Amino acid sequence: MTRLLLTVPTFFGTEATLAHEIRSLGYETSEVTDGRVTFEGDMEAIALANVNLRCGERVLIKMAEFKAKTFEELFEGVRKAPWENFIGKNCAFPVKGSSVSSTLSSVPACQSIVKKAVVKRLGEKYGIEFFEETGPMMRVQFSLFKDNAVIYIDTTGEPLYKRGYRAKGVAAPLRETLAYSMIDITRWRGDRPFADVFCGSGTIPIEAALYAKNIAPGKKRTFVSEKWTEELKGLYKDAREEALENETPDAPVRIYASDIDPAAVKLAIENAKRAGVEKFINFKVCDMKDAPLFTDKGVICSNPPYGERLMDKKSSAILYRKMGEKFQKFENIGKYILTSHEEFEKFYGKNADKKRKLYNGMLKCYLYQYFK
Ligand SMILES: C[S@@+](CC[C@H](N)C(=O)[O-])C[C@H]1O[C@@H](n2cnc3c(N)ncnc32)[C@H](O)[C@@H]1O
Repeated sequence: MTRLLLTVPTFFGTEATLAHEIRSLGYETSEVTDGRVTFEGDMEAIALANVNLRCGERVLIKMAEFKAKTFEELFEGVRKAPWENFIGKNCAFPVKGSSVSSTLSSVPACQSIVKKAVVKRLGEKYGIEFFEETGPMMRVQFSLFKDNAVIYIDTTGEPLYKRGYRAKGVAAPLRETLAYSMIDITRWRGDRPFADVFCGSGTIPIEAALYAKNIAPGKKRTFVSEKWTEELKGLYKDAREEALENETPDAPVRIYASDIDPAAVKLAIENAKRAGVEKFINFKVCDMKDAPLFTDKGVICSNPPYGERLMDKKSSAILYRKMGEKFQKFENIGKYILTSHEEFEKFYGKNADKKRKLYNGMLKCYLYQYFK
């Protein structure tokens, strides 16, 4: 069995959620660092991780890690990796990467060196000088951070947040992977009522329904490594079949999704239909102040306008004040609000019990957590 090191990059602040998911799949994590989790697995792990992970950006095979301050060091480090174990004679292997706080700061120059080193290694192994690159796609990815080079092969293709249910978004949609991380932080397990009163295109309630029904997020899409070998094709088929068997369509669930914008709610319903969870969510067009809530123990998990893209700061301040007035009447409900607005607590009228720093794209946000 080929032992592989697999690395999954993720949003800052969501590493614990991702590590927990990887362990739930039966793998030990070997490294949890800022923005990425690494674990040891095999070919089956590639299929299981891609099909089942709700958090994380993509699944990468870690090929090498070394210090590189010069192009020679970069070239040699890349050349030493066993590329022939993965990349066949016909494969396409474009190179992409990033460099942060490193001596080798030019990404295009590093890209070209990495490509040359892979070509050199494969050329020696296969006894050829020219690669047509007409076969399966095996994108090589490098990351240089403080002169530390890590080189990977991408197994995912389109990032994991592209579940395949959101054909198009409304303004400011949340990444599906971030929505799931927020749900995980609430510790909601599908057992209590759940509401998103700013549902927009429906990302949070759809992710909640997929989770509550144990529906694999990768069920409706394909991954680039499915086309690599017959073995992987079979492993993906098995992973999807196993995921289907584990679904719990009859589990009772109460999920409420509302938004003031009728077009957003229409789109959320369409997205939920595509995800196969529309019948598990109660949708409503209404202002947050009239949103249906519940008196039993439950959770509100929402991503209101921040005053950055959708509303100005003053209007969002007024909205947060109204949220405080409404939500604080419901003591049984835990409230989890994601915003980049730095004065959220002041306008909401209460300090959060806990805050978690999360990045929505490049935007630093906090998930304000009120346990009652
Ligand atoms: C940041 S977006 C939510 C995006 C959503 N999480 C998604 O993934 O598509 C904020 C949403 O709040 C809605 N909104 C603004 N004011 C509202 C109010 N007073 N009551 C209810 N919804 C409101 C907007 O229509 C918008 O869809």
